[in-house]
Amino acid sequence: MSQEIFRSPKKRGRIAVFLSGRGSNFRAIHDAILAGKINAEIVLVFSNRPEAPGLAIARERGLETFVLNPKLYPTKEEYDREILKELLKREVDLVCLAGYMRILTPVLCQAYRYRIMNIHPALLPSFPGLNAQRQALEWGVKYSGATVHFVSEEVDMGPIILQAVVPVFQDDTEDSLAERILKEEHRIYPEAVRLFFEGKLEVRGRRVYIID
Ligand code: GRF
Repeated sequence: MSQEIFRSPKKRGRIAVFLSGRGSNFRAIHDAILAGKINAEIVLVFSNRPEAPGLAIARERGLETFVLNPKLYPTKEEYDREILKELLKREVDLVCLAGYMRILTPVLCQAYRYRIMNIHPALLPSFPGLNAQRQALEWGVKYSGATVHFVSEEVDMGPIILQAVVPVFQDDTEDSLAERILKEEHRIYPEAVRLFFEGKLEVRGRRVYIID
């Protein structure tokens, strides 16, 4: 059986960021763009929550924001279909999930296959889902970290693009561990987006190769 191969496009990219909270990863990506490190622009910052602090940051920075209330849609699929329309309208090349607290339906996953990234605060496939830092502490691992991956239908299970490792100390709390991991998130997420629009990411099955 022949294997599907995806190669990211080398172009000036159009990014949509999805967030539900404070938006520090969004800020890290935008900072990297402003510093000329990523060949892209953020054309949309989308949220399911009008009060998300990340939206306020986006507005301060003069970026277009957009909110849809999920309660107004009878199904998750219809909600995602509405979002998809907005992405297509703006010719979005890449969606960056940055603390977006909803599970995407196949409507978005399939339309944007290998064109949606997520950041997770653990070394996947360990500790998927919520409270990843707490899960790591409770399990007693000595190292945890951050993972940037492509989004597939299965939550937190898509092909891994980049990972960073941090130590877990005996006296760590959820907060201290989260802070150590977050520093790495802010480093590897912009790096993954940079590689994407340099045309350097190649997906073969589960494996993502960085092509130089
Ligand atoms: C991060 O820890 C990220 O790994 C997880 O949600 C958090 C979002 O933080 N997916 P922020 O909104 O980017 O500051």
